[in-house]
Amino acid sequence: MLGLRYDTPEGWASRALEEPGALLLDHLFCEQKAAAMAMAIARRHGEGKPSLVKLMEELAAEEEEHFDQVEKLLEDYPPATQPRGGNPYAIGLRRFIHKDGRASFLDKLLVCSLIEARSAERFQLLAKELRGSTLGNFYEDLYASEVGHYRLFVELGVDHAGEDRTLERLEELREFEGRLIASLPPGPQIHSS
Ligand SMILES: [Fe+2]
Ligand SMILES: [Fe+2]
Repeated sequence: MLGLRYDTPEGWASRALEEPGALLLDHLFCEQKAAAMAMAIARRHGEGKPSLVKLMEELAAEEEEHFDQVEKLLEDYPPATQPRGGNPYAIGLRRFIHKDGRASFLDKLLVCSLIEARSAERFQLLAKELRGSTLGNFYEDLYASEVGHYRLFVELGVDHAGEDRTLERLEELREFEGRLIASLPPGPQIHSS
């Protein structure tokens, strides 16, 4: 359903959950960045597009809500280790779309869609691993929410560039994203290998 080109292997969730606090802290930064990204799109691409601005503001509010939920959970799972600096996943995706100079609006939308799709895939695996627990239910809810965000960004791409161009570019980006995430080191991060 998410169209990803690389399926996260069995065992990723149990490994990532060896340090639930560190995983939640990494996740906290992801939610913060997702909110900031939505607001950046509204600012940079929202002129004359009130419906885009409204959608991005609503999205940012939802991501901020996720941020608050993760922050609350961190009280129960204090991280034992410091987070790894930077986010090689997001950096790698951004580099790929900026390599010819300025990234197109379509590419920005599709990178957001892929980050949402990969996060959704990971939350589903975490939910399965933790089924029946508070944390498991939390990941289950987030899965549904991030799937919605994935779809929203693809739809915005189609509105902007048409279906053929969007799906063709999405395919190229999916290939790259799959290779990128498979190449990252393992660890308690949402976007580790
Ligand atoms: Fe989120
Ligand atoms: Fe999201």
